[in-house]
Formats: sequence, C-alpha cells, structure tokens
Amino acid sequence: MTGAARGIGASTVDHLARDGWAVLAVDACAGPDAAPYAQPDAADLDAVAAPHAEVEAVVADVRDRSALDAAVARALERWGRLDAVVACAGIVGGGRPLWETDEAELDLLWDVDAKGVWHTAAATVPALLAGPDPSGARFVAVASAAGTHGLFRMAAYNAVKHAVVGIVRGLAADLVGTGVTAVAVSPGSTDTAMLRATAELYDATTDDLAAHQLLRRPLRPEEVAATLVFCCSREAAVLNGSVVSADGGFQA
Ligand SMILES: NC(=O)c1ccc[n+]([C@@H]2O[C@H](COP(=O)([O-])OP(=O)(O)OC[C@H]3O[C@@H](n4cnc5c(N)ncnc54)[C@H](O)[C@@H]3O)[C@@H](O)[C@H]2O)c1
Repeated sequence: MTGAARGIGASTVDHLARDGWAVLAVDACAGPDAAPYAQPDAADLDAVAAPHAEVEAVVADVRDRSALDAAVARALERWGRLDAVVACAGIVGGGRPLWETDEAELDLLWDVDAKGVWHTAAATVPALLAGPDPSGARFVAVASAAGTHGLFRMAAYNAVKHAVVGIVRGLAADLVGTGVTAVAVSPGSTDTAMLRATAELYDATTDDLAAHQLLRRPLRPEEVAATLVFCCSREAAVLNGSVVSADGGFQA
C-alpha cells in the first residue's frame, strides 16, 4: 500500500488490517516543509501501523524504483507472498490554466502520480505473478475524477491522472491469461489534506468542491477505502481493466 501515512491510504491500511490482511504500509513521509504543501512524516506513518501487529511501516518514495524493489523484498521476506497492491501515493497541483502552468508542476506530478504508479506496478507485479494463487492477485491504482474528466485549472493533474488510467488499461492487457487483474479507482472530492490543499488552490472551500458531486458532501476517506478494499478481493476480478468511480456522482 503506497501513500499509507494519511488520508485515503491510511484509511485503507486500517480497513485491510481489520479484515485480516498483513500490510506493508509505504509512504515518502516528506514532512511538513515539503513542496507544494505539507506532507506527513515518519511519525504519522508509524501511527498508522502501530495499532496492527501485521502492518509494517516502510519509508519509500514512489519515484525511487529501487526503494520500491526493497519494499517488495521486505514483504516477501516477512510474509512470503504478495496478493494485492494499492498504488495510492499522490500529490495535487493546479490553480492556473494550462498555458500559465509551470512546466515544473507537470514534471513533479508526472514523476509522483503517473510514474510512481508505473514504478509501483513494475516493482510489484512480478511478485503477484509468482505467488501461490495469481488468480486472486490484484493491482489497484488510485486515479481521480480528473482521470476521466477535464477539471478546470488542473491541467497537469488531469494529464497525469488520465495517464494512471492508461497505465492500468495497458497493464490489464499485458496480464491476460495470468489471473492477476488491474483496476483504477477514481475518487471524487474526499475529505483529506489533499482536498484542503486543492480548495486553497481555487480559493474555495471543500464543500464548494463537493458541490460537483450528487451526494453534495465530501466523501469520507473510509468510504473510498471500502471500495479499494473490495478491489483487492477475489470477487473484484470482474472489474479487471476498468475505472471504478468512487465519486458520489461527480459532475464536471
Ligand atoms: N482527496 C481527494 O479528494 C482525492 C480525489 C481524487 C483522487 N485522489 C487521489 O487519492 C490518493 C490519495 O490522496 P489523499 O487525498 O489521501 O491525499 P493525502 O495528501 O492525504 O495523502 C497522500 C499520501 O501520499 C503520500 N505521498 C505523496 N508523495 C509520495 C511519494 N512520492 N512517494 C510515496 N508517498 C507519497 C503522502 O505522504 C501522503 O501520505 C492520491 O493519489 C490522490 O490523487 C484524492
């Protein structure tokens, strides 16, 4: 599980652990001074792992393929198998139209949100394929409503989340015949630090953002986590290659 230190990722770790999964909880833990907005630190990640005997915290940046390889090796060393992967790590940027957006913003979001999912798949899929039961193994990537819609003043985020959907579709095609499946889950506005950072970009409130979804309220992280946990299950094979909308009825 990447992006495990807070928000949707932390909630998913908690739900998986309560369901009896052993979880390697991975996060960059870049800390409060990280750009472009404050990130959690190692103490936050440890607090996610602490309540559960079978959750282990590992600090690793999804931009660092070798760190992810080491994380997979650690999971295999401790538990002997890898059955599901959730690529949840991500950051947001935006606030300006495409033609006024710094190339540096696109590069950062590409490296974390798109290439981070690519690296996570490259590092983990061989272990899913080598497991005792590949037909029950799942790769789950967190995309966004911005992965299928064009959200105004989020050009780079739109681009990289569409790329996440492309990575999942291509991966699912590569996995034909193996039993392992791949799916993207696209949350709507969910009450996390990222949503609060997004609202600041627009000089808006999180309720303003949530007004775009038919539920007319921000989703709770645990609501999105429940969908992600289902996507890790054997029954979720039917979702292979698809984009699951966990967005409360998002309307662009
Ligand atoms: N909150 C929303 O409204 C919303 C909507 C759609 C999609 N999403 C997606 O859901 C995922 C989780 O978002 P969230 O709202 O919980 O955000 P969040 O900021 O609360 O949590 C994101 C986590 O990812 C980690 N992370 C960031 N960069 C990383 C890196 N390079 N390597 C490893 N870990 C890194 C952070 O440390 C943090 O713990 C993201 O992919 C995000 O794009 C969120």
